[in-house]
Amino acid sequence: MSQQFSAVFVWSRNIRLFHWINVTAIFLLIVIGVIILNSKMLGVSVDGKILLKTIHVYIGYIFAVNLLVRIVLGFVGKNHERWNKTLPFQLGFTKELKDFSQGEKIIYQGHNPVGKLMVAALLFFLSVQMISGLVIAGTDIYYPPFGEYFAEYIAIDKADLAAIKPYSKTNVDEEAYKAMRTFRKPFITAHVYSFYTLLFLIPLHIFGVIFTERKERTSVVSAMINGYKHLPKNSKE
Ligand code: HEM
Repeated sequence: MSQQFSAVFVWSRNIRLFHWINVTAIFLLIVIGVIILNSKMLGVSVDGKILLKTIHVYIGYIFAVNLLVRIVLGFVGKNHERWNKTLPFQLGFTKELKDFSQGEKIIYQGHNPVGKLMVAALLFFLSVQMISGLVIAGTDIYYPPFGEYFAEYIAIDKADLAAIKPYSKTNVDEEAYKAMRTFRKPFITAHVYSFYTLLFLIPLHIFGVIFTERKERTSVVSAMINGYKHLPKNSKE
């Protein structure tokens, strides 16, 4: 006999809004990031590079604020917004993962154990992008939150910070500039390698969602649009 499925509200408006702002921002950040990464090969001028970096940083701010709101929501939100329902750190998680991986037929209302691992990985690498991005925005085009601090650090005349411009040596102390570039290096490395990792994780996430939908037929794809999954009576919280 076929099982009875009913509509269960799983993803709140906050979660869905976060998800689609995140998708759009990441898509744009990747497109512009790839152009910046290959700017030499593409023959982009210095002004073009500054413009690309400025647009990338503005979209980066939207991405960062959205991510920070989501992180806070994980602590103060309701039901499936909360981290204890989303991340793989609860007691008994290892057993859940083992049972699920061994093919035990359990349907989860929120994320299944593999999904929770993916959320943790995505959250980690997105946070790395956010933190490293905010630092290099300061060292590169002197944008907030750290731009003024770095501009002051490299300035010869600290009273004329307006003269400090991207790719310009006016009012720049060479030694301090070199020290600032050395400080920035690990942040650039983190930004680029975390970007490569995301290029691997994002398709894996999409594959996981499609695989789950084909296996369970619980409307996991449309649930991220309208909030509802179609779940059997014995689905797990
Ligand atoms: C998922 C989010 C993000 C992705 C996938 C991403 C990707 C990239 C990539 C691929 C590059 C080129 C790296 C290079 O040429 O060295 C780049 C550069 C840059 N990103 Fe991001 N980024 C993200 C978020 C951010 C955020 C939140 C900010 C700051 C608000 C930011 C600021 C910058 C800056 C300033 C550069 C220029 C670095 C340079 O001088 O080359 N990024 N980003």
